[in-house]
Amino acid sequence: MPLLQVDQLSRSFRGVRALENYTLQLTPLTIHGVIGPNGAGKTTLFNLLTGFISPTAGRIRFLDQEITHAPAHRIARLGIARTFQNIRLFGNLPVLENVKVALQSQLKHSFVGTLLSSARFVQNERELERRAHECLELVGLAAQYQQVARNLPYGDQRKLEIARAVALNPKVLLLDEPTAGMNPNETGELLQLIRHLRDQLKITIMLVAHDIPLIMNLCEQIQVLNYGKLIAEGDPHTVRNNPDVIAAYLGTAKEV
Ligand SMILES: Nc1ncnc2c1ncn2[C@@H]1O[C@H](COP(=O)(O)OP(=O)(O)OP(=O)(O)O)[C@@H](O)[C@H]1O
Ligand SMILES: [Mg+2]
Repeated sequence: MPLLQVDQLSRSFRGVRALENYTLQLTPLTIHGVIGPNGAGKTTLFNLLTGFISPTAGRIRFLDQEITHAPAHRIARLGIARTFQNIRLFGNLPVLENVKVALQSQLKHSFVGTLLSSARFVQNERELERRAHECLELVGLAAQYQQVARNLPYGDQRKLEIARAVALNPKVLLLDEPTAGMNPNETGELLQLIRHLRDQLKITIMLVAHDIPLIMNLCEQIQVLNYGKLIAEGDPHTVRNNPDVIAAYLGTAKEV
């Protein structure tokens, strides 16, 4: 059974069809890539899947529950976490605090959150801190926990964003342009990290990227969007050789 099932999902912005009749059957434990030129609808797709915006038409089911118009905090609690194309960190706060804030914001909406205001506050605070350290360890930022977030190198800021998403204990992790602005070394490290997260945490990962070689290398399933429409999907080999993809996006097959 697919983890995430999306049928005919569409979203327009004042007449602009940002996403049209998008369909997905996300297989558990895969690394699924979405590529497409600027404005193709990739971020819109992630905004729809995480409840940041509502679709104009279509349906989203997660673990056999309808989440089409569910609010973002409920979707996050059910197990879909994300990072953003433009890094969203608390730049003035230490690295550890950034992860703790993510954990706290999630707790606010859950039953466990009520415990925070009780006499068990101190114990919960310690538990929160332990969990935050664990997430930093997972992304390779354990040693930097006291550093102010904005002083981290760019690649580490992206890793911190991932730590914040992972803190929510997701079943599906959506990464929007996780390698944007990274140098080749940082990109290579991130590729390893994404594989590590999938294997270690047994989660499913969906990512958007402009870096075609990265996607071809990393993803088991790929979808290609163009002007809001799905023009191809399949394994890297199938997508790379699809004539529509070559014409619309990849240029010539040789360049890939
Ligand atoms: N909030 C919004 N209001 C109006 N138009 C929007 C909004 N969000 C997206 N769009 C439009 O929808 C289309 C798809 O945008 P989207 O950001 O999803 O593309 P993208 O594939 O993520 O592009 P990029 O590669 O540049 O990040 C674009 O034409 C964009 O201008
Ligand atoms: Mg985008």
